[in-house]
Amino acid sequence: MFDNLCNDNKIFKNLIGGDWVIADDSELIEIKSPIDGSLVGKVGAMNTGEVDKAIRVAKEVQKDWKLVPISEKAKVLHKVADILEEKVKELASIMMHEVAKDKKSAESEVIRTADFIRFTADTAKNIAGESLPAESFPGYKRDKISVVTREPLGVVLAISPFNYPLNLAASKIAPALMAGNTVVLKPATQGSITALHLVKIFQEAGLPNGVLNSITGKGSEIGDYVVTHPEINFINFTGSTEVGKRISSITTMVPLLMELGGKDAAIVLEDADLELAAKNIIAGAFSYSGQRCTAVKRILAVDTIADKLVDILKRDIKKLKVGSPLEGDADIVPLIDEKAVEFVENLIKDSREKGATLVVGGNREGNIIYPTLFDNVTREMRLAWEEPFGPVLPIIRVKDKDEAIEIANESEYGLQSAIFTNNINEAFYVSDRLEVGTVQVNNKTERGPDHFPFLGVKASGLGTQGIRYSIEAMSRPKAVVININN
Ligand code: NAP
Ligand code: G3P
Repeated sequence: MFDNLCNDNKIFKNLIGGDWVIADDSELIEIKSPIDGSLVGKVGAMNTGEVDKAIRVAKEVQKDWKLVPISEKAKVLHKVADILEEKVKELASIMMHEVAKDKKSAESEVIRTADFIRFTADTAKNIAGESLPAESFPGYKRDKISVVTREPLGVVLAISPFNYPLNLAASKIAPALMAGNTVVLKPATQGSITALHLVKIFQEAGLPNGVLNSITGKGSEIGDYVVTHPEINFINFTGSTEVGKRISSITTMVPLLMELGGKDAAIVLEDADLELAAKNIIAGAFSYSGQRCTAVKRILAVDTIADKLVDILKRDIKKLKVGSPLEGDADIVPLIDEKAVEFVENLIKDSREKGATLVVGGNREGNIIYPTLFDNVTREMRLAWEEPFGPVLPIIRVKDKDEAIEIANESEYGLQSAIFTNNINEAFYVSDRLEVGTVQVNNKTERGPDHFPFLGVKASGLGTQGIRYSIEAMSRPKAVVININN
């Protein structure tokens, strides 16, 4: 797609200070497709000297980038969005190969990312400061005004996960840039080739040299060095709770925005429209084989309707298409790697051994886990609490809404929940009591639209994303107090 992004040996370079570089002695990481193990490309495992250079350049140019008028910054972002839209098919194809994303999800990720970037540019143009009169505070007169503007934080470290290699990189980069920060992107290793294409697009769109830089390499090897780098002023991380906790435990005085794991519950009450609930639960649980933080990861169904719900789910889960993303219309695709498949298999095994009822699925073929539904899952089973990040859905039967709330809140996670009911009072009763960032009434759990606030509580995150929220998180108020002597 871009001539100078990789060489004939499929080696992809990193962007530092406007140059695509790789050290002569760089160790190479092979990125193999989860579909068939074929080589997608190679990326460098960057050493600490290269990391230092990327961060140093970002720091140097931030002073100038901050001063570029917001309307000029917005023009660059609009251009990025235009290029993304021109390249939907190519970018989707890279994602299909690199992270085995099904075609429909891959194409919609590119389009959604273009929309996100445009909306971010326009939102930033419309963020106004404020002025506060002193007289509203007791004891003060009309002799002071605080003029409050927003300042960038400096260098933002963006760390993105494999499952949305384009969107979850862009949704950190775009708001950070519009707030006047420069960015160093460390993408997930499996997903880094897609992310490097995004970085290239920012360059093609006219982003000045050094404003966006990239670092590839395994998080387990360079992660600690990067996140504790003294020149990093903000860390915007999406990934597992395990890594998120590590980052927050080793960093000092650096603000963090973290979107982590989840165990989103779909609560189905007695009066719910069961066809609607089943349709949403299936889409929520199984798209991209459940590899979404907001996937429906457990059903809490009231006993009186559980049998009927199970019948509908079984009927429709059987209709899901299983196969390679390259076959065109597969819903269930190979998981990201062998380790992920084994983890999910162990959850299945544990549920079987402890007496859950296997309704459908449970089998594996290569890296594909067939869509699996377990009924009568109990609190003693790992599947009740752990995030599979795969197409396996447990049903926990409950006697009423209060038991559903209790089990929902017993989870260490608190990303989202869905409540299915036709009674608005019941919907509010349950929503009020759930310890999550967002409750969806009669819909699957999901992030969008992307200007809504998106956040996890408990082990699901720190801080709030969402276009305006992200810009605000990556900037700070600056107050100039005008004292009037008259
Ligand atoms: P992950 O293993 O935690 O990796 C996320 C990112 O962190 C990758 O770029 C990874 O690099 C890097 N990393 C790994 N170890 C690191 C360290 N010690 N220091 C700094 N960075 C490090 O997560 P994943 O497997 O890519 O994604 C799946 C997880 O992300 C799930 O738990 C899912 O729920 C969560 N997620 C949450 C949201 C949300 O918005 N709440 C969205 C998407 C995903 P390498 O690839 O090189 O290891
Ligand atoms: O897991 C990625 C997160 O950003 C969720 O997005 O649209 O799949 O709910 P979505």
